Amino acid sequence: SFIATRVVSLTAKLLKLYCMIPEQCSYPSIFIYGHRATGKSHVIHTLLKELELPYATVSCVECVSVGLLFEQVLLSLFGSDSASLLSRNPSLSDFVRVYKQLCVQASAKQTRYIVLDRAELLRDMEANLLPAFLRLQELVEDNVTVILLSEIVWDKFRPNTGCFEPLLLHFPDYSKGELQQILSEDSHPSYSPELYSAFINILLGVFYSVCRDLRELRHLAALNFSKFVEPLEQGKVKESDTHKLWRNIEPHLKKAMQTVYLREVSRSLPLPFSGLSAHAHVELPYYSKFLLIAAYLASYNPARTDKRFFLKHHGKIKKTNFLKKHEKTSNHLLGPKPFPLDRLLAIFYSVVDSRVAPTASVFCQISSLVTLQLLNQVGHDDQLDAPKYKCAVSLDFILAISRTVSFDMVKYLYDFL
Ligand SMILES: Nc1ncnc2c1ncn2[C@@H]1O[C@H](COP(=O)(O)OP(=O)(O)OP(=O)(O)O)[C@@H](O)[C@H]1O
Ligand SMILES: [Mg+2]
Repeated sequence: SFIATRVVSLTAKLLKLYCMIPEQCSYPSIFIYGHRATGKSHVIHTLLKELELPYATVSCVECVSVGLLFEQVLLSLFGSDSASLLSRNPSLSDFVRVYKQLCVQASAKQTRYIVLDRAELLRDMEANLLPAFLRLQELVEDNVTVILLSEIVWDKFRPNTGCFEPLLLHFPDYSKGELQQILSEDSHPSYSPELYSAFINILLGVFYSVCRDLRELRHLAALNFSKFVEPLEQGKVKESDTHKLWRNIEPHLKKAMQTVYLREVSRSLPLPFSGLSAHAHVELPYYSKFLLIAAYLASYNPARTDKRFFLKHHGKIKKTNFLKKHEKTSNHLLGPKPFPLDRLLAIFYSVVDSRVAPTASVFCQISSLVTLQLLNQVGHDDQLDAPKYKCAVSLDFILAISRTVSFDMVKYLYDFL
């Protein structure tokens, strides 16, 4: 129960995990998957920390090299001197050897845990890495469990060559009730928890149908709370009069809904973006990233190649037809070409694939991308025919974006075939 007080909303997730922390023998690997912001990282960290278990957590996004990943694991498990035992560009077998050596000196009293966050990126690293981590216990002969966290289902993960099968654990999306409980925990120091909870209730009433992402909702709550308490500060309304407070805040929330996908991006970034370096941090909403990817593909691929790239069962398309010899000029040299909305949507739905995009918000996100000048609308507003767009970001930029959603951009670009 002491954990319950720390991890707000003691979900079934936590209980399930808790039961998996055994006394003696441990699972070699556990694969935890679920949509964004379903508490994968948070729950697992809280659990390991509160139980005071020995563990290492590594975010695969931050590990630019495998060596860095090995180093971080050893540092966390065996202390600051341990990493110096690794050579400069350690291979997997170097890692295993050093790990074994350190184990002898510090034999495990409890199971050690290695958490690999954003584990889907392991697939892009050396091919032997993922299979090795799945059965690390056996390789290093230590009581160690590797926990992989990912948004992607195991079936899209498993190497063709087969591997040790981890224990699978799904983190479902938070329910409305759970979101209410978790968000209410952030209550404002100058106001009662009851008032804050009432505010969250109103917020969820407006946003839950379009947005279930805990991070996004928390951000919206923080943005709108001061507006909510404005009538209280002015002494116009009493705390108990939630109906009046609701009537006051509702129009603001409805307005905020129009820009829910815009967030603070527009304020925090210089315009225009075209020259922005690939390393600049742009936190676009998840589906906006795919929209931008689709827009880039539509701008730089010839339309006639869409079938080949994006139609699942395109039948036989002759290679000679596909790669026309005279078309030597790089589309990238010619710059972005305008495309109509329906082509953008067709590509978008093909690349989002099983990640299920909510249709209603797509149009809203397109106009946000235009506002942010990541997309340009071509032609005049009063033009009668359907609008056309052009993608306004650089190749570096789109490659960086696609990496954050694990989309293999280069495979879909005609120029790079
Ligand atoms: N049960 C919870 N109680 C309190 N806060 C939570 C809970 N679950 C998640 N959060 C918070 O919500 C945010 C998102 O959670 P978290 O980072 O664990 O999601 P995730 O599933 O790892 O998402 P991603 O796939 O994007 O990595 C974090 O700020 C986290 O602290
Ligand atoms: Mg996470």
